[in-house]
Amino acid sequence: MNTLKVELGERSYPILIGHGLLAQPELIGRQIAGRDVLIVSNTIVAPLYAASLRAALRGRRVVDVVLPDGESHKTLATVARILDVLVANRFPRDCTVVAVGGGVVGDMAGFAAACYQRGVAYVQVPTTLLAQVDSSVGGKTGVNHPGGKNLIGAFHQPVAVIADTHTLSSLPPRELRAGLAEVIKYGLICDAPFFDWLEAHMDELLAGDSQALAHVIRRSCEIKAQIVGRDEREQGDRALLNLGHTFGHAVESATHYTRWLHGEAIGAGLLMAAAMSRECGLLSAAEVERLRRLLERTGLPTHIDSVQPLEALDHMRIDKKVKSGRMRLILLRSIGESFVTADYSQPALLRTLEEHFGAPGPGQAARSAVRP
Ligand SMILES: NC(=O)c1ccc[n+]([C@@H]2O[C@H](COP(=O)([O-])OP(=O)(O)OC[C@H]3O[C@@H](n4cnc5c(N)ncnc54)[C@H](O)[C@@H]3O)[C@@H](O)[C@H]2O)c1
Ligand SMILES: [Zn+2]
Repeated sequence: MNTLKVELGERSYPILIGHGLLAQPELIGRQIAGRDVLIVSNTIVAPLYAASLRAALRGRRVVDVVLPDGESHKTLATVARILDVLVANRFPRDCTVVAVGGGVVGDMAGFAAACYQRGVAYVQVPTTLLAQVDSSVGGKTGVNHPGGKNLIGAFHQPVAVIADTHTLSSLPPRELRAGLAEVIKYGLICDAPFFDWLEAHMDELLAGDSQALAHVIRRSCEIKAQIVGRDEREQGDRALLNLGHTFGHAVESATHYTRWLHGEAIGAGLLMAAAMSRECGLLSAAEVERLRRLLERTGLPTHIDSVQPLEALDHMRIDKKVKSGRMRLILLRSIGESFVTADYSQPALLRTLEEHFGAPGPGQAARSAVRP
């Protein structure tokens, strides 16, 4: 087992990473304090993993909430259901909420924990790759609103994150690939050797090799923990974690969140951020090609035919990261070096969008072969 620490003073917490952690009752029991525990999961994950958690919590009062599956249920109404159960069972201030599932469950259980009695402890047990490398770490919690994604939320750090790589064995391959987009993102942001490692080991990762997966989860969490430790509330550096996301969110919202998984949209968004960096004279064409090849091998899209370039631009402009009218982008100086800027050329942005959205140009048809 690997243990990392997110250093946030009195809000510091450990991230435990390993194969079969959920089958170790003592280890699990140690991370979950209090007599009263609420396990929040969903209809897919509960039958797979709730029993091992219950076994680890024998002797305590354990109550379950099983939510409906899917991003469309990431709403205030669903969080209200979690709060209702806490209230109905008169859960005390020193209870613990345990989120078992992907980012959707984690974001909602974390938000319920942030709100109940103005904040109770919660533990993340992420069961998707995306949740293990990204959403379970860093304390962003919340729900969607009809007016936008993740518009309602709070910063509330968990007391522990337990990432059992064994849970990834039941994950649909498409979800695994989507999680790998966020992993590639970390290499691009600040770790060129990690990007090289991903190029060398992508086949093992796609085959579900648990050692390779544990390595990428560890490195991804290290990077995220470091950035969050420096900038918990996204006043500066934490924005780097949004590399590819302004483009990716445009893909998601223009296709109504139905066609592409978040990680898939981010895969395309990463390539667009790289191509934009090349248009701005920062990144070499060879580096952009390296990224394109890695994304293609991972099975992620690199061209979005069904959305027109100007339509994509409109969606980018309403992204919530637009600060005082000027859209900020994360760009790359090289693979492994990123920065935030609002100072870029508009024609370069338009050329980037024209290259990656709409009917593919000559030579691009084969590249957009990935279909959801
Ligand atoms: N809080 C943050 O910092 C942060 C960061 C990134 C993403 N997010 C949020 O995370 C969400 C996406 O998370 P996700 O990609 O994990 O999606 P998800 O939670 O919807 O999980 C994907 C699918 O896999 C299923 N599943 C989960 N674990 C499984 C397992 N072990 N075996 C089989 N099936 C399993 C889920 O039930 C779901 O159907 C979005 O709502 C996004 O906004 C939050
Ligand atoms: Zn993301």
